[in-house]
Amino acid sequence: MKRVIAFATLVFSITVVTGWILPASSSAGQKTSFVEKGHKLFNQYCATCHGISGKGEGPVAAALKVGPPDLTALQQPGEKFPFYHVQTKIDGEKEVAAHGTSKMPVWGQVFRRTSGEMQRHADVYALVKYIESIQQVKS
Ligand code: HEC
Repeated sequence: MKRVIAFATLVFSITVVTGWILPASSSAGQKTSFVEKGHKLFNQYCATCHGISGKGEGPVAAALKVGPPDLTALQQPGEKFPFYHVQTKIDGEKEVAAHGTSKMPVWGQVFRRTSGEMQRHADVYALVKYIESIQQVKS
């Protein structure tokens, strides 16, 4: 009887552990969820200027001195997606320190204020993954 219980406990813990670990470590699933998260954040924070498509047709774009660039064309043929550049642009802080004022709101600060330091990195990462997913040129 004891062995049966021990066995049942073992099976149960394996189910629980794999149930927890497998979905989290499946990189395909994680990639999609970052992209989905980024898509939501984009519609919420960025589409007003950059447009729902990311091409720069947002309703606020007309009022800007410098129009928002086409975010679906950041990757150049034969080159990799400029991940770090995009991340820095969104996060803003390094860019601001190096170049003074940026015409784009500094989102790193917004995300930190609304959701804390850890979440800020996750949000910026999700946005970069989303922008990577909408590139017309794929690597
Ligand atoms: C108030 C309008 C506005 C909003 C809102 C906005 N942007 Fe921008 N964005 C701009 C403008 C204007 C530029 C071009 C000027 C610049 O780079 O400073 C730009 C540039 C960028 C670039 C650099 C592209 C390149 O060519 O290097 C990225 C990446 C970007 N935005 C992403 C985002 C993301 C992600 C969000 C939402 C979190 C966002 N933007 C929200 C106006 C906006």
